[in-house]
Amino acid sequence: MKIFLDTAVYKEIKDRYETGLVAGITTNPTLVRKSGVDYFDFIRTLSQDFTFESISAEVNGNTADEMLENAQQYIAIGPEVTIKLPLTKERLIACKILSEQHVKTNVTLCFSASQAVMTALAGATYVSPFVGRLNDNSFSGVELIRAIGGLYATQRVETKVLAASLRDVHHVSRCLMYGADVVTLPTAVFDKMYNHVLTDAGLAIFEKDFKEING
Ligand code: E4P
Repeated sequence: MKIFLDTAVYKEIKDRYETGLVAGITTNPTLVRKSGVDYFDFIRTLSQDFTFESISAEVNGNTADEMLENAQQYIAIGPEVTIKLPLTKERLIACKILSEQHVKTNVTLCFSASQAVMTALAGATYVSPFVGRLNDNSFSGVELIRAIGGLYATQRVETKVLAASLRDVHHVSRCLMYGADVVTLPTAVFDKMYNHVLTDAGLAIFEKDFKEING
């Protein structure tokens, strides 16, 4: 069971890295555009400054060859750098080649069990089903995690289920219960994972009692 952070903001990562609870980072072009960083420099800096099992860098191109070429600069950074590929036929061809070269891959924008089958056959390290975006479209995201988790367990697939597009704490624990190996979280969701109203209420009572005990 692992938590990754889904962000392209360096400080957000640094502040949570210190907890020792973050195992990896996912990024995408939208997050990078919003943060205004240079994509390549950002991935290289993360690799230099932190120890993560995976840092996803998304690559683009019209053909598998173009995507493989665009991936080379990231692969050279380090073995934790994970080439992130949206789920299309050309990108799965690229994924298969990268997998055979023992390069980590994350096949993203997965919305069905059949897509997860093709991803596993392409030898991906991770498949990223998008829970929130399915929920936005009136399908159950956690049910997709359950389907893929069950299918991969039955077939003894090595590809890890990386539940993505998670916007609330409730869905995080559901995904892990239903077979996700990894959840990638926006930092706002990560920060809420610690919280419960009854913990706050109980702590307030304990602190008051501590004061009385200690005079
Ligand atoms: C995961 O790899 C994606 O970057 C991310 O989880 C997408 O989340 P969103 O649907 O909230 O944009």
